[in-house]
Parts: sequence; C-alpha cells; structure tokens
Amino acid sequence: MQDVNLDPLTAEVLDQMAGTPDPRLREIMAAAVRHLHAFAREVKLKPDEWLSGIAFLTAVGQACTPYRQEFILLSDVLGLSRVINLLHDAEGRDVSGTETSLLGPFFREKAPEFALGESIAVHSREGTEIVIFGHVTDAEGRPLPHAMIDVWQTNADGLYDLQARDATVVDMRGRFRCDAEGRFHFRTVKPLGYSIPMDGPVGRLVRDQARHGCRPAHIHFLVSAEGCRELVTALYFADDPHIGSDTVFGVSRSLVVSPASGLEGAPRPDLPAIHYNFRLSRRGATDAAGARVGADPSQILPAAQ
Ligand code: BEZ
Ligand code: FE
Repeated sequence: MQDVNLDPLTAEVLDQMAGTPDPRLREIMAAAVRHLHAFAREVKLKPDEWLSGIAFLTAVGQACTPYRQEFILLSDVLGLSRVINLLHDAEGRDVSGTETSLLGPFFREKAPEFALGESIAVHSREGTEIVIFGHVTDAEGRPLPHAMIDVWQTNADGLYDLQARDATVVDMRGRFRCDAEGRFHFRTVKPLGYSIPMDGPVGRLVRDQARHGCRPAHIHFLVSAEGCRELVTALYFADDPHIGSDTVFGVSRSLVVSPASGLEGAPRPDLPAIHYNFRLSRRGATDAAGARVGADPSQILPAAQ
C-alpha cells in the first residue's frame, strides 16, 4: 500500500464518493468530509481525543428516548439549529415578516383550543397574570382572518406541563383562532426562564464550557394562515437576566417584549399587557417540503389529546 499524505487522502475520499447518484447527498457529504478533515488537521486531533469525541456522540445517542432528543439539544447549544433557522428565513421570509425562533422540544400537536380572551394557565395559576393581544397579518400588514395561533410556555416556576406534571396533564399551552379581522387576545401567567436539560452528555459539555445553560423567559408561538408560510417564533421577556446570553441563541431584538400597563386597545386594562403583531410571509415554492424545516425538528412527543 502506498503512503498517502493528508491532502491526497481527502481527495481520494471525495473521489470515492463522487458517483453518489443523489446530487444533494453528494454535495452534503463532500462538504462534510472536507470540513471534518480540515477540522482534524486544524486542531491536530490526537487518537485519544478522537476516541473521546466518539464516546461523547455515543452517549448523546444513548440519552435519546421517545421523550428526549439529545442530538437536537446538541445542535441547539452549538448554535447549529439557529443557523438552520436563519438560512431558512433568508430563503423565504419577507423582510418585514416576523423573525423566527426555535421550535424547541416542548411543542405538542393538537393542544386544546380556547376562545379568545381565555387563559391557558389552567392548572398553574400562580404568578403574574398578563394579557397578550395583537393582529396576525401578512408581511404588508393586511389582516389574515381566522389565522390559527398555537402557544406554549413554562409556568411561573420555569416548568413546561410535561415537566411539572405527568404527560397526561395539558397546561400552559393552547390554540386560538383569530377573529375575522385577524385579531387575537388571550391571558396567561408570565413564564420563568429555565435551564435546558443538564443531566445528560450535552449538559456536561455545557458545564465543562462554564456556560449557565439557561434560556431567558419566553412564550412560543406557531402561527398559521391559508397561503402563508407557517411562522415558528417566540417572544422573550426583556427583564430576564439571561436575555443577552441564551444558551441556544434563539433571541433576536425584534422578539423582545415587556408587559406594560395602560396600552392603547388593551382588552383587559386591569392586567399588564403585551401588544405584538405577527406578520406572516406568503408561502413560496421552497416551503412545499414543510414550513417547520427552519425550526428545530420537534421531538416526537405524544399529542396533547
Ligand atoms: C425551548 O425553548 O423550549 C428549548 C429550545 C431548545 C432547547 C431546549 C428548550
Ligand atoms: Fe421554550
């Protein structure tokens, strides 16, 4: 066997894969090999370090269950999920459409539907009650009648329903159908920020990196309307101590809010209110494969009913 030095080796690997019939698989795998080889050369990766990496990835796989997706969590803390988000946005979001954010692992299909004005805080009522109101429009500001809003969040203790109680109890989540002018309002309690799951290999890595592992308080939204690109986003609370250092990099300036009293048009003047208009982009050809591709693929959780 003849000696190969490193650069020709990379070329040889690429050459062997050059006949991959699927052009996209060919492109992705070629880039992955180029970058992986370059990474190993850049840090002069030693055999024991390579083995530690393999052991880490093995542990990540072993930590996955039907209720926990440790690989997505790894993608989140490395900022990769956010990169995918931004690439998807750049491809199809109207510049004046609402910015997207991570779907995260706690979304559940088929949350209960509430009437406008009702509260999603059914079991966890402790905390500061707030009202959230606004319009769902297209990117030009034209109202989208009867748009659907899915909302989910932690309670005032920083726990999702799946963490606070057993998986059969649905709380702090629901769906609202906008009125004929695209208006919505609902009540909830102000959520608390929380730590990502730190008891697995990803948590150990985050700790080894001296990171806090926290997400600032936020409320998730999935907004859909006929002919529009599904919007996966979240609103973040300005007063959270981790607002500038989200462990999974989901915050953008346009998504930061503060509840306030005395807002014009607030449907419950007795409660602190958040006013937010969601602006959906029109659906394009690139959305045909599914609008949630720019967000984290949600882990497969049981539906809420
Ligand atoms: C969330 O916002 O629910 C979330 C996102 C990424 C990792 C963990 C939680
Ligand atoms: Fe969340």
